[in-house]
Amino acid sequence: MIPQETINELLEQTNIVDFIGQYVQLTKRGKNYLGLCPYHEEKTPSFSVNEEKQLFHCFSCQRGGTVFSFLQYLENLSFPDAVIEVAKKTNFALPNSVTNAPSQDSPTFALRKMYAATKDFFAHILVNTKTGENALKYLEERQLSDAIVEQFEIGYAPNNRDVLLKYLQQQNYSNEQLLESGLFVQSKTGELFDRFRDRVMFPVKNATGQTVGFSGRKLSATNDEPKYLNSPETKLFNKSELLFNLDQAKTHLKDEQHLILFEGFMDVISAYQAGVQSGIASMGTSLTDEQIYLIRRLTNKVLINYDGDEPGQKATIRAINLFQKKAPQVQLGIISLPNQMDPDEFIKANGALKYQAEVNGAVTDLQFELDMLEKKYNLNNDREKIAYSKDALMAIAKLDSQSARDVYLNKVAQQTGISLAALNADLLGATRKIKQVARNTQNLYPDKKVLPRPENTPALTITSKSDRAQARLLYLALHYAEVDLRLIAEEFVFPNENFEKIFDLWHNYKSTHEDIIITAFLDTLTNELQSIVITLEMIDQPTNYVDEEIFDAIQVISENFQTDQLQLLNNDLVDARRKNDQELIREITSKIIKIRRLLDK
Ligand code: GTP
Ligand code: MN
Repeated sequence: MIPQETINELLEQTNIVDFIGQYVQLTKRGKNYLGLCPYHEEKTPSFSVNEEKQLFHCFSCQRGGTVFSFLQYLENLSFPDAVIEVAKKTNFALPNSVTNAPSQDSPTFALRKMYAATKDFFAHILVNTKTGENALKYLEERQLSDAIVEQFEIGYAPNNRDVLLKYLQQQNYSNEQLLESGLFVQSKTGELFDRFRDRVMFPVKNATGQTVGFSGRKLSATNDEPKYLNSPETKLFNKSELLFNLDQAKTHLKDEQHLILFEGFMDVISAYQAGVQSGIASMGTSLTDEQIYLIRRLTNKVLINYDGDEPGQKATIRAINLFQKKAPQVQLGIISLPNQMDPDEFIKANGALKYQAEVNGAVTDLQFELDMLEKKYNLNNDREKIAYSKDALMAIAKLDSQSARDVYLNKVAQQTGISLAALNADLLGATRKIKQVARNTQNLYPDKKVLPRPENTPALTITSKSDRAQARLLYLALHYAEVDLRLIAEEFVFPNENFEKIFDLWHNYKSTHEDIIITAFLDTLTNELQSIVITLEMIDQPTNYVDEEIFDAIQVISENFQTDQLQLLNNDLVDARRKNDQELIREITSKIIKIRRLLDK
C-alpha cells in the first residue's frame, strides 16, 4: 500500500500536460490540449488533456483519468506500479517502504525487473571485469566513448553457457519466468542455457525507457552466427511496435523538432555521439504501421536517414510511401549519404560537423523522389524525357499546396525544357488520376479498429433533461461542499444508479481521507465509474453556480422520476385490472393519486 499522502503529493507536483506530452503530441485548443489517442489508431484527435483539472479523456474509447491511469492503460500496470513509474519519471522520491516493497501484481512486473537486472549485469561485466575487456576494446575501435557506452547502457554477455542463468536464479526467479523472458534457450532435456553468448549487448527499451529485450552483436567477423541476435518475441518484446532509442529521442523533440529514422541502431548511437540525438530505428525489420502511428503521435516532422546503398534507398522510398499513406500530416525530410555509406560510416569518415550539415540539408520527400526518378532516365533522349516528366508529374500531383507544386513544376521545366504551360496541363490529368487511385484504394486500407472500451466502460450518455440535471448536480456536489451538504440534507437520491454509487463513494472517501482531491478520489473508482466522473469533468460547463440552479435541477430530476414512476404504476394498474385484484388496484390507485398531487404542486 502506498500512503495516500505520497500519492497526493506526487499528483500535485506532476503536470499531466508535460507528462502525457512525452507520449502524445498535444496542441492547445481552448482550455484543453488535444492529441491522437495512444490507445487506438485514429486520424482525428479525440484525446484531450485538461491542465486545470489534471485529467485526460478520450471521447472515442472513453479511457480517462489521472497520470496514473494514463500509464496503467498504456503499459497494463497495476495502480501501485503506475505510481512507482510516474515517481521515477518525475524524479519524485518515494518512501523506502514503497520502493523496497515486494513485487507488485502486474503480469509483466517480474519480467521488467529481470531485464533491468540483466542489463546492469551485462554492463558491469563489460566495464568492470577482465571478461569484458575484448568487447570494450571492440567498442573503442568503433569509436564509442565511455560516456556513450554508459548512456546506452551497453553491456557484454560472456562466452559462457549459464552465467546469466545462475545470476538470475540467485534472485529467485522461477523457471517459468526465466523461460518466459526469452533470455534462455531450453534443451531437449528441459535444461536452460544463456541465449546470448560472447555478444555486445544493447538493451532495447520501450517508449517509457524500460528495458524490454536485447540485441546482441557478435564480436568477430568470422563464423556463421548472425551478426545481430535479438530477443525472441515475448510479452514485452514486440519488434513491430518498438523503436530503438525512442525513449531518449522524444526528450530531444523540443530542441531538435523532429525524429530521425535510421536503419541500424549502431547508426542511432553514432549519430547520438555526433550530437544528433533524436534518432530511432526499427529492430532490423522494415517499418510497420504500428511504428508509424507511434511516431505520428509524437511529432509531425520526421527525417529519414537510411543507408546510402541501393537497398537503403529502396527502403527510403517504401518508408516515404508508408508515411504518405498512413500519416499524410507528417512532413518528411530525406538525408541521402554519398558513396553508399551508412550514417555510422559517414560520421567516422567525415566527422560530426559534416554529418550535422547533411542533417540540416535534408531534402523534401518529393525532391528525393524526383532525384531517384531522374537517375532512372536519360534526359537527353526525348522518349525517356517524356516518360520522366510523366512520372514526375504523378509525384507532384500528390502535393496539396499550390506553392509546393509550383516549386517542383519549375524544376521539372528547367530539367527537361518542357514549357510550364504544357506541364501544368498534364498536371491536371495526373491529379485526377491520383484522386481516382486514392478513392479506389481507400477502403482497402481501413485504419485499425478502435480498441474496445475498457471493460464495463459505457460512454456517459446524456439524453434527457433529467440526465443533464443529474450530471450537473453530481458535478457540483463533487466540487462544492455546500451543494453536497444540501443534497444530503434533502436526502436526495440520484435516479441514475451509477451516479448514486459515485455520490455514495464520494461521501465514503470524504469521511476516510484528510486531503480531499478529486483526482485522487478518481483513482479509487472502477473503470466504469471513473469514466463517468471524467466525462463530467471534461464536459464544457460553468464551474460556478447559482442557488436557483440547484433548486431547479432537483425539481427537474424529481419530476422526471415521478413521471417515470407514474408510467410504471399505470402499467401495473392495467395488469392488476386484468387480474381483477381489487386490493392491488386500490393500492396502486392511491399511489398514483399521491404522485399526481406532487406533480401538480
Ligand atoms: P554494424 O555492422 O554493427 O555497423 O551494424 P549496422 O548498424 O551497420 O547494421 P546493418 O546495416 O548491417 O543492419 C541494420 C539493422 O538490421 C541492425 O541494426 C539490426 O537491427 C539488423 N540486423 C543486421 N544484421 C542482422 C542479423 O544478422 N540478424 C538480425 N536479426 N538483425 C540484423
Ligand atoms: Mn554499420
